[in-house]
Formats: sequence, C-alpha cells, structure tokens
Amino acid sequence: MHHSDAVILRVYELTKEFDGIVAVDHVSFAISRGEIVGLLGANGAGKTTTLQLILGLIRPTSGRIEIFGQDLECHRIEILRRMNFSSVGVNLPPNLTVWENLWLFAQLYAVPHAEERIAAVLDLLEIAHLRNARTGRLSSGEMTRVNLCKALLNDPELLLLDEPTASLDPNIADKVRRLLRQIQRERQIAMLYTSHNMRDIEEVCDRILFLHRGRIIAEGSPREILRHFRTRTLEEVFIRIARSGEILVGPEER
Ligand SMILES: Nc1ncnc2c1ncn2[C@@H]1O[C@H](COP(=O)(O)OP(=O)(O)O)[C@@H](O)[C@H]1O
Ligand SMILES: [Mg+2]
Repeated sequence: MHHSDAVILRVYELTKEFDGIVAVDHVSFAISRGEIVGLLGANGAGKTTTLQLILGLIRPTSGRIEIFGQDLECHRIEILRRMNFSSVGVNLPPNLTVWENLWLFAQLYAVPHAEERIAAVLDLLEIAHLRNARTGRLSSGEMTRVNLCKALLNDPELLLLDEPTASLDPNIADKVRRLLRQIQRERQIAMLYTSHNMRDIEEVCDRILFLHRGRIIAEGSPREILRHFRTRTLEEVFIRIARSGEILVGPEER
C-alpha cells in the first residue's frame, strides 16, 4: 500500500452482512492525505454500506477501520469531528432556511467564526442567493450543493462523498468536480468518492477501487485500469466487470 506516514484512512478486511447478505466482503484499502479515491461499482455493489461503516453509522460484522491513525470503534467522537460527508440521501429539516440549516451544523461541529464560514462555503458553491430559501423548496441540484456546503463547514481532513454529482446538470456537475479538485489542492483533504458516473471518476479521482458484490476486484489509477483491461474507456471496464465479475489483480499484489 502507501508507505507514507500520511495515511488518513485504513480499512482492514472490512465485512458487513445484513441477514445473510454480504454487502461488504473483506475489503481492505488505504487513503493518504490529499488523495481522491473513487469507489466505483454497480447498484448494490456495496458503496454506500462501505461509507456508512467508515462514518460509524453502522458497525462492521468483522474487520477494522483506522482513521487519523486511531481505531474508529474506540475514538469515534474525536475522529468524526475531523471528517464529514455528503450524500443525496440526507434530508435537512425542510422548514428551515439554508442558512439556518448550516448554522445548526456549524454549532454541532463547533465551527469557529460560524457566520463567516457559512458565508464562505455558500460563496464557494455559488449559492449565496439561496441563503434565505427553505431547504424543502430547493431543487435536487441546489440541495446537493447545500449538502456539499454542510460537508465543508468543519474544514474536514477526510471527506466521504456518496454520488455527489448524481442529481446535477452537466454544467453544475462540472463545477463541482473542479471545486473538489481545487479543495484537494488547497487543503490536501483526503476524499473517498462513490459514483457510477465514469466521467466523474476519470476527472476527479487519483485512484479507483472497483467494487463488485462487496469485493474489491480492481484497483489502480484510471490509466492503469485502462491499460490492464486494454480498453479506451472506464465505461467498457465497468460493463465488463458488472457482467462477468472478472477479477483484476491491481498494480500492487492483493
Ligand atoms: N440496511 C440494510 N439491510 C439489508 N440489506 C442492506 C441494507 N443496506 C444495504 N443492503 C444491501 O447491501 C447491498 C449493498 O448495498 P449498497 O451499499 O447500498 O450498494 P451501492 O451503494 O453500491 O448501490 C445491497 O444488496 C443492499 O440491498
Ligand atoms: Mg449507494
């Protein structure tokens, strides 16, 4: 793996079963500071479950998660303070305005200079004009951007993004991808990014983990994956894996 002291997240043999269904099956990987890693896979591959395990929302059946060099099970509160996530599934209280929602989260994370910070993230996502809109009235694309604001409020060192561009039009999706890249450059945040959008993954991620039925079956940079499969596009790789479950040994022996 990465022989660096800047490993932010390390997952060992992570397994999660839901009454007989193995959603995540002995998954191991690490993410270093400043790295954006894409977790790619078909619907039901285990992407969201993996993120929920790393967020401590659900407990693994077996295996271990280390974040910032500490065991998640034992140091959950300190760890969660230094990370954040964004997911389309998160519903914010619909009767509160964008500002009020972000204010609540700022209090929850004890964000210093909350007013300035909220104004800054609203500007960053180009939704300052929505500050007084009730979140229940927002379009899904606007909601996604509010969610990203929420995810950046506490200046996280590890950011988990579950299909962050899923409901965005191509223009906004492109802006969000650039923004994530910019944040990565400026802040050196480590990100784990799930998607089934190849465009997303190719443009944003330094490294890809391909999940198939809960198992990592391919790993490498977008370029390495294309070379290995002898294809021009990740889309072809995706379709081949989804249909056959073909096993790829990554650039590092697994
Ligand atoms: N709470 C749950 N109870 C039972 N099965 C679940 C639960 N959450 C996820 N699963 C199952 O685990 C598998 C992986 O789901 P998920 O992680 O949501 O996939 P993805 O995000 O890649 O689409 C699926 O078969 C799904 O039905
Ligand atoms: Mg999912």
